Amino acid sequence: MHIDVQPSPRAVAREAARLIADAVADRPSLAIALPTGQTPLPLYRELIVSYAQSKIDFSQVSFFNLDEFVGLGHTHAASYHAFLKHHLLDPLGIRANQIFTIRGDARDSVAEAARYEQAIAKRGGIDIAVLGIGANGHIGFNEPARHLHPRTHLLTLAPATRRANAWLFGDRLRDVPRQAISMGVATILSARGVLLIATGAAKAPIVHRAIQGPVTTSVPASLVQLHPDAIVLLDKAAASRL
Ligand code: PGA
Repeated sequence: MHIDVQPSPRAVAREAARLIADAVADRPSLAIALPTGQTPLPLYRELIVSYAQSKIDFSQVSFFNLDEFVGLGHTHAASYHAFLKHHLLDPLGIRANQIFTIRGDARDSVAEAARYEQAIAKRGGIDIAVLGIGANGHIGFNEPARHLHPRTHLLTLAPATRRANAWLFGDRLRDVPRQAISMGVATILSARGVLLIATGAAKAPIVHRAIQGPVTTSVPASLVQLHPDAIVLLDKAAASRL
């Protein structure tokens, strides 16, 4: 695991964008899995700017989302699909046939999880999984638990995760779905490269546990320690407990 501490969230975004742009330049048809949340927003802005300035060609890249709320269709403003479209894919001019996202409003969530896992496999797996980390240590929506699901699955969100997502629902906690579909930890860790980003002092304790603590399912992000090609990109504040 390579740990890279940058001076600021902006510098984290720049470095993450550079890594992604380099990977796309090396392999224009790569498959990338992307997170939702506050942390990746500066990265997405940076990618849009770099794209405009240096013409990175994203036209053959496949974009996957790590997770999605159950019950929300793609047009729901708080869906992770809509989030990615709004903050990254539309400004980059990504075409619909390059976007592979989970359908939160599928009638059968278990079947949808299986379909998604197959879609990833059909695409040859994920090349780069970009991850945030929840304050409780989740990656994707793989919440701390005694047992983790390896593959894409239906799950119940932790109360802390629902609270952390309330901003997407106008701060109305009751509107935050109780269930989600997420890539599993094996789906994520099968990616050829993993890029975990965390910024801000609030993430410092969990970053410390994930990176320097034992590998444990009670901190799902600690499993990233097992990946042979993982980069952890932190700002100074998130790295302050290391
Ligand atoms: P955040 O979410 O970027 O909004 O802190 C991180 C996560 O839950 O993965």
